[in-house]
Amino acid sequence: MWPVLAQEGRGSADRAEALRVRLEHADGRLHRRLRAAVQAGQGPALFRRWLEASPATPAGEGYDALDELVAGLLRLAEPGTGGPALEPGMVFYQPTPARHVLDMLARVRLAPRDVLVDLGSGLGHVPMLASLCTGARALGVEWQESHVTVARAAARALRLARVTFVAGDARDADLSAGTVFFLYTPFVGAVLRQVLDALHAEGRRRPIRVCTFGPCSPLVAREAWLRADGPATADRVVVFQAVRQRSD
Ligand SMILES: C[S@@+](CC[C@H](N)C(=O)[O-])C[C@H]1O[C@@H](n2cnc3c(N)ncnc32)[C@H](O)[C@@H]1O
Repeated sequence: MWPVLAQEGRGSADRAEALRVRLEHADGRLHRRLRAAVQAGQGPALFRRWLEASPATPAGEGYDALDELVAGLLRLAEPGTGGPALEPGMVFYQPTPARHVLDMLARVRLAPRDVLVDLGSGLGHVPMLASLCTGARALGVEWQESHVTVARAAARALRLARVTFVAGDARDADLSAGTVFFLYTPFVGAVLRQVLDALHAEGRRRPIRVCTFGPCSPLVAREAWLRADGPATADRVVVFQAVRQRSD
């Protein structure tokens, strides 16, 4: 290669690297400021704007820059390995893309008396974002203890006192406090059937809503006791209202 071209190439690579480092520092500063605001209890005032700015129809299951921002805000550690393996019907961990969590929160409008329960809460994004953006109480139930350990540490570090995590099987969970339940296709088959029956029993006792995302949505839409707020497609959160039936 001509020496002058090689030098120019090196020059652009150096400039690109310098820009990358500056952007990383700027990201780090933004994450620290957001975390400090949440720790000071200013989350709902600050993040209400996120809900208002949530796009009208967020589509698709992929991740985007908002997930990067949320990762910097929540600073979740890598979960350890070990603990009980997933049983048949249980779905492995994958977080709901942040824009869909915000879309759900914008649509359900959690009131102070609401309690959001994420069934199969993984590393805890959904309960933490719900509480952080609205101040509401939120609970996560998760089979994998290693994930619950990470979620609890992250909530503690952000001083999210209204968020709790329970390690265990959603089939055995105490659902009595919940008013809004979220399922990002955490299980299928007989496990899903049992949890839906448990939710139906809760819905007979008090008004509840069930929000779903992913492939479980069309399955949940077959429940006669649930009324969807729109088409039950897999690529957008569906909000179901429990309705009283003649047999209830
Ligand atoms: C697709 S991930 C959803 C994670 C989280 N809800 C989110 O949206 O970020 C499904 C999670 O459900 C958990 N899970 C599967 N079966 C479960 C069960 N019976 N009880 C509790 N958690 C379960 C898995 O360990 C996994 O973390």
